[in-house]
Amino acid sequence: MMGAATARVPAKINLHLGVGPLREDGYHELSTVFCALSLYDDVTVRAAEEFSLTVRGEGRREVPTDRENLAARAVALLAERAGVADPTVAIEIEKQIPVAGGMAGGSADAAGALLAAARLWRLDTERDALMEIAAELGSDVPFALLGGAALGSNRGEQLLPTLHRGELHWVIVLAKTGLSTPAVYHELDRLRTGRGETVPPPARPDALMQAIASGDVHAVAPLLHNELQPAALSLQPLLRRTLRAGAEAGALAGLVSGSGPTCAFLCTDAEAAVAVAAELSGHGVAKAVRTAHGPVPGARLVPVP
Ligand code: C5P
Repeated sequence: MMGAATARVPAKINLHLGVGPLREDGYHELSTVFCALSLYDDVTVRAAEEFSLTVRGEGRREVPTDRENLAARAVALLAERAGVADPTVAIEIEKQIPVAGGMAGGSADAAGALLAAARLWRLDTERDALMEIAAELGSDVPFALLGGAALGSNRGEQLLPTLHRGELHWVIVLAKTGLSTPAVYHELDRLRTGRGETVPPPARPDALMQAIASGDVHAVAPLLHNELQPAALSLQPLLRRTLRAGAEAGALAGLVSGSGPTCAFLCTDAEAAVAVAAELSGHGVAKAVRTAHGPVPGARLVPVP
């Protein structure tokens, strides 16, 4: 059976990221608010004689092209669960989402691969089953399927969609070098141990969720919060300059996205975002500067290019 399918998948930022203590299983209990943003990776899965994986676009050289790539693992896991007789595919990824940027680019590719492969093989895998496979692949993969805005708990994979109104406008600043997610969590543990802190379980950010439901950007701005930010700043001190530059350029608020090093700046409206982006582009603090809006829907099928 030949054929192909393509899924388009958004990046995410965490509007709130509360991190509990390190658990026995090596993960941290999270209370986070995800927001899907209008930066997309397109993932095409084609029936093929032999396995291949090609990557084009943003940061392509840093992405593994073997079976260890999370998109390849996603296809393999789905094939195994669904009992697909010939699961050999060629995967093509067109990237807009920064690699190792804290915007769940790898997770987006896994979510896209799941959706595209399910379509290619005409599987009637229930949404719940797909979400379970997604959670096995990584903490952020289920949200890439869901999109919109959602409260994430446990490792981040347990999702509760939250009400949201209107669009928030962002400037996204890509750093010159990436950060590894485990390294940033490890640094947070190190900083906390150094201070002799007892870490409480993360609290639910109710005020922020209300602000998102109201669609009032001025209510959202002061509530943006990322507990991984001090760890990301500790590993990449230059990010402080980026955050300062964003505030000086007129953003309402700025924060490190997830484990970083990408920084996200919330702006009053689309026009303000373009002005802030232009200002930051001239600063030389970044590899690239983009504008984006969100919440946007999660992974969806689009015509094969
Ligand atoms: O689940 P995922 O593979 O995306 O997580 C990557 C790494 O990030 C984990 O191995 C762990 O070190 C860290 N992590 C964590 N707590 C979470 C999610 C991720 O410590 N809730």
